[in-house]
Amino acid sequence: MNVNSSDTLLTVPTGPLQIADLPSTNNVYFSLVIPTYKERDNIEHVVRILSQTLDEVIPEDYELIVVDDDSPDLTWQVAHLLTQEYPQLRVMRRQQERGLSSAVIRGWQVARGSVLGVIDGDLQHPPEVLTQLLAQIAQGADLAVASRHVDGGGVSSWSAVRRFLSRGAQVLGLIILPGVLGRVSDPMSGYFMVRRNSIVGATLNPVGYKILLEVIGRGNVDSISEVGYVFCERQEGESKVTWKQYVEYIHHLIRLRLSTGGMGRFNQGAGFPIGRFLRFGLVGLSGVFVDMAVLYLLSDPSTLAWPLTRSKILAGEIAIFNNFLWNDAWTFADVSMRQRQWHQRLKRFLKFNVICLAGLMLNVLVLNLVFNFLLPNRYIANLIAIAVATVWNFWVNLKLSWRVTDVK
Ligand code: GDD
Ligand code: MN
Repeated sequence: MNVNSSDTLLTVPTGPLQIADLPSTNNVYFSLVIPTYKERDNIEHVVRILSQTLDEVIPEDYELIVVDDDSPDLTWQVAHLLTQEYPQLRVMRRQQERGLSSAVIRGWQVARGSVLGVIDGDLQHPPEVLTQLLAQIAQGADLAVASRHVDGGGVSSWSAVRRFLSRGAQVLGLIILPGVLGRVSDPMSGYFMVRRNSIVGATLNPVGYKILLEVIGRGNVDSISEVGYVFCERQEGESKVTWKQYVEYIHHLIRLRLSTGGMGRFNQGAGFPIGRFLRFGLVGLSGVFVDMAVLYLLSDPSTLAWPLTRSKILAGEIAIFNNFLWNDAWTFADVSMRQRQWHQRLKRFLKFNVICLAGLMLNVLVLNLVFNFLLPNRYIANLIAIAVATVWNFWVNLKLSWRVTDVK
């Protein structure tokens, strides 16, 4: 092996996880970090396909940075050998630190690009999406995120349980850190690029897997774009996600919340969509009348005289249907006009149902908590419970059913 500068491993930066200004010499337009842990069987394919893709759009103006956490399968060594064939490839072997998020930041710290990106090293992120993400940045976005939850996005064959856990994690984040997770449709994405300027100087302090949260929460990101992508199945190796990542995720949310206030862009600019919220509230009120009327028609002794529970379930569902129609046609008309196919409407309706059902449970829970521990007045307690459930229904439906985010 001949020894020249591109042949040696990168020195691992130490100290705070902070991104400095663009170096004045030797820079490139785009630096793409590929964090790896035990990706020996993937790395060559990944480097080849990423190079091919980027050679087509920004030849000679990018670098690939593999950051490997001293994988026992010697991924770093395999990657290092590839640098002979791929001069734009640089490799870091970390032996002191561990973890996906800090690996990404350590990679960005040695990066020479004005746009910084990250992609998984296991081919689960389709490389062709890179071109679209770059185009979004070129059009002025500060941050371009590959998302599973917009048109063209999805997961190839996840079980219902995994989808549910992933969505549950998102909802939890929407509650703890609304101003951060509410800005994008797929806050869990590990496939995105950001302008260096938007994160220069910020000390990133991630725990665990979700580096995008740090970038949005601590960076200074104005405009965001998203590109849909399908999360492919792994061909080689295995995922490193265990239950530990869920615990770390919650820890991360709380930590970001405490140190940034968690309201993110809520305090500035756009703020809370108050107009929509009022419309949503009015629609909710209309649902009360629908519920009452149907309950009367079904269960009153002078009408059908059905049993109460059966009547109420039907009345409640018809009210939910009523609310959905009005919200779709009025509260979120701008969104539904762009998503008019019947299967898209059906999907929104099903999500709306599930979220409202959870809202009903929340309603009962809050009513009990307030009544038993705070304020022994059942009507005031109920008003509080209704208010909490309404905010829940509004916020989660806004983000998951109609997907109104911060993205243009
Ligand atoms: N350096 C380093 N250190 N790399 C790591 C570590 C680590 O501790 N843990 C995982 N990686 C690398 C893997 O080798 C892979 O290239 C990438 O990070 C993603 O890890 P996976 O274990 O394959 O994660 P996943 O497939 O369940 O989830 C990924 O995709 C999600 C959806 O976009 C992650 O990137 C998530 O962050 C992402 O949300
Ligand atoms: Mn993976």
